[in-house]
Amino acid sequence: VVPMKALSSLAPLVRQLIVSPSIRSTLEEELRGIEYEVELDLVELQWLQVLAEGWASPLYGFMRERQYLQALHFGQMLDLKRKCIFPGEEEVEDEEGEDSFPMDGPLNQSVPIVLTITSQEKEQVMRNGHTVPAIALSYEGKRIAILRKGEIFEHRRKERAARQFGSIDERHPGVAQVMNSGEFCLGGDIEVVDRISFNDGLDKFRFTPMELRRILAEKKADAIFVFQLRNPIHNGHALLMRETRAKLLETYRNPILLLHPLGGWTKDDDVPLKVRIRQHEAVIDEGLLGAEWTVLSIFPSPMMYAGPTEVQWHARARLAAGVHTYIVGRDPAGIADPASESGDALYEVTHGAKVLSMAPGLSHLNVVPFRVAAYDKKVGQMAMFDPSRKEDFDFISGTKMRGLARNGQTPPDGFMAPKAWEILAAHYREIANQ
Ligand code: ADX
Repeated sequence: VVPMKALSSLAPLVRQLIVSPSIRSTLEEELRGIEYEVELDLVELQWLQVLAEGWASPLYGFMRERQYLQALHFGQMLDLKRKCIFPGEEEVEDEEGEDSFPMDGPLNQSVPIVLTITSQEKEQVMRNGHTVPAIALSYEGKRIAILRKGEIFEHRRKERAARQFGSIDERHPGVAQVMNSGEFCLGGDIEVVDRISFNDGLDKFRFTPMELRRILAEKKADAIFVFQLRNPIHNGHALLMRETRAKLLETYRNPILLLHPLGGWTKDDDVPLKVRIRQHEAVIDEGLLGAEWTVLSIFPSPMMYAGPTEVQWHARARLAAGVHTYIVGRDPAGIADPASESGDALYEVTHGAKVLSMAPGLSHLNVVPFRVAAYDKKVGQMAMFDPSRKEDFDFISGTKMRGLARNGQTPPDGFMAPKAWEILAAHYREIANQ
């Protein structure tokens, strides 16, 4: 049993990169005076938010080459030093002092978090062979952050894609994104002017790790379990969450679920965030998840569809919010193999859960793996799939759901809460009519 007091001490420290309100105007003034600017695209803005709020602590900005190599080759952050050392080069450490931000051992970091620039942008931010000391980062023309002590290194896109995704097939949307990004990476220390919000009606669901810790403490959680998702919730998902809670109740008094849909970029045929949030609220309304033990919030990261590599990121980021139990099921962060005509999964569907259970640099995280849930026609409910009577089960895919909705049909009883299905069906009808 991990007692309440110890729970918060198990959570790693959080380094937030948003400046305090008292120095905001000084930073804004400095930003106005800076000659050099790099414009972020939406996905880069989402990564900036991830960094700013501390989900990737203790990173203090976009990765430098040293951290990039550690992420790509070891899937871990080993240190925060600035330079890759050749003989004779001086070792430079985080000036704030690593002591002020101790890393007690390697931390899982399976995906690079980089800002990419083109060769033209590189020319603009270099003077006499050095990167200029301060660069403004802007989004839609507004300067929102400063990058200091910039370091530029080559972005070997194909190699990165091969390592991160295990694929260089550009029909994979994550691979395409890497292949279409800049040829260089611009690493550096970041200070962000203000919290990043989207004014899309959903900001009230966007909580930073520190805010979530407060909310969860106010609810007097003695165990916090998280469910990462990017799809609508069917009763199979709800089953995983309820079973995990039941398991935790054997040891804890008040396990609280962080229902944490991913809110950053997703591929075109995924259900938009706005629809998903309403769908999730309906699932809670209908009592499939207890309102008293559920906190619904948006996770700001963009999706990559990197399977077992990405699920480690999904789990590791949540440590910042004080989460200690992570639910993982079938094919997390998965995608269909673009080369497969029958739509086979690119990643072996059990590997995500297996890899996460063994992942380095994730100590203290209690991983709860599940096999696949499917619709059990015999009992008319979503249940854990039993291969010994596979003819009794129906795997209701996204394609099948879309088809049902378009034709005004409903899925079998017990597949999804009716109010939640109606929200989804309305969405699919709308896109069918476009
Ligand atoms: S993900 O990209 O966020 O992983 P998704 O929203 O589909 O995608 O899945 C959320 C979580 O539910 C993941 O842990 C995934 O493994 C699990 N999951 C999704 N569908 C099933 C299923 N039918 N059976 C068991 N686990 C599932």
